[in-house]
Amino acid sequence: MSTYIPSTPLSKKLGLTYPIVSAPMFIISNKEMIVAAANAGILGTMPSLNARTHEKFRADLEWIRQKTDRPFGINLTIGLTDPERLEQDVAACLEFEVPVIVTSYGNPTEVVKRAHEKSITVFHDVINLRHAKKAEQAGVDAIIAVAAGAGGHAGRISPFVLYPYLRDNLNTPIIAAGCISTGEQVASSLMLGAQLCYMGTRFIVSTECGAQDEYKNKVVSSSPEDIVYTDQVSGIHANFIKDTIPTDHEASRGPDAAKRWKDIWSAGHGVAQINDVKPMEEIVEQIIREYHDAVTAFMHGAQK
Ligand SMILES: Cc1cc2nc3c(=O)[nH]c(=O)nc-3n(C[C@H](O)[C@H](O)[C@H](O)COP(=O)(O)O)c2cc1C
Repeated sequence: MSTYIPSTPLSKKLGLTYPIVSAPMFIISNKEMIVAAANAGILGTMPSLNARTHEKFRADLEWIRQKTDRPFGINLTIGLTDPERLEQDVAACLEFEVPVIVTSYGNPTEVVKRAHEKSITVFHDVINLRHAKKAEQAGVDAIIAVAAGAGGHAGRISPFVLYPYLRDNLNTPIIAAGCISTGEQVASSLMLGAQLCYMGTRFIVSTECGAQDEYKNKVVSSSPEDIVYTDQVSGIHANFIKDTIPTDHEASRGPDAAKRWKDIWSAGHGVAQINDVKPMEEIVEQIIREYHDAVTAFMHGAQK
């Protein structure tokens, strides 16, 4: 039996070397991460809104298209985006035939219809079965199961339960999101029914990531005990590094979402297994090695 991370039907369909996604992160994921992910054999993504203007987003798409012909994804935060900007960004994704669109915070039905006319794959993220069923009805190609402990807006259901729960109640492939930082956790997530592993916090500490150095160092030095799940920052429950949240609640609830997420740093429980900052390619190599070591040790009854 091979101990390299196996392909899944979804990773094969997308043409990925490894069934791993560098998940979209507001403000800090960027086009450099997308290209580094593509070169490392995984799927890189970023929110369209990380480009301040639609024109800048188009320029980013042109740049990515020049640098790689491998697959990548764009996140459209449907309900959080000004409708005019959303329409412009959707149209650009269709025009550039972006291989994967990741929808979040809203009803994906319309985007799915238009994306499928261009054979674009659509992922949609959910935190429970009710939303997952709606997404399935909308015709999405895969459902991102965002578990408790994830970075960003996280769910409340343990990853141990959420992935097999959604897999067993849906006919749509499941993508595991939340607390995956190591190859051992990739192996466990695939075992629990995931077809891709969607990793955000792990890639904050990539050299290519747009987070400032202090943020990256904070992710390295933080423990899961330092992460707090609160709706006080954005109105939706999300995980943040506790001591970056101002003690004065009013200060943390200012009107400008971008400013809040810039100064208040989000990360998930997966900080526990993150020990250094390095290029994305080296992070992916480490994950592959960890997967190999964990699976080999497991098969020989020699787990750590
Ligand atoms: C700083 C940060 C910003 C995020 N921003 C977004 C976003 O704009 N859109 C989105 O769909 N998910 C966003 N997420 C969630 C991630 O895409 C992904 O679901 C999550 O990071 C997975 O959990 P993990 O961090 O434990 O790996 C964000 C996560 C983080 C850590």
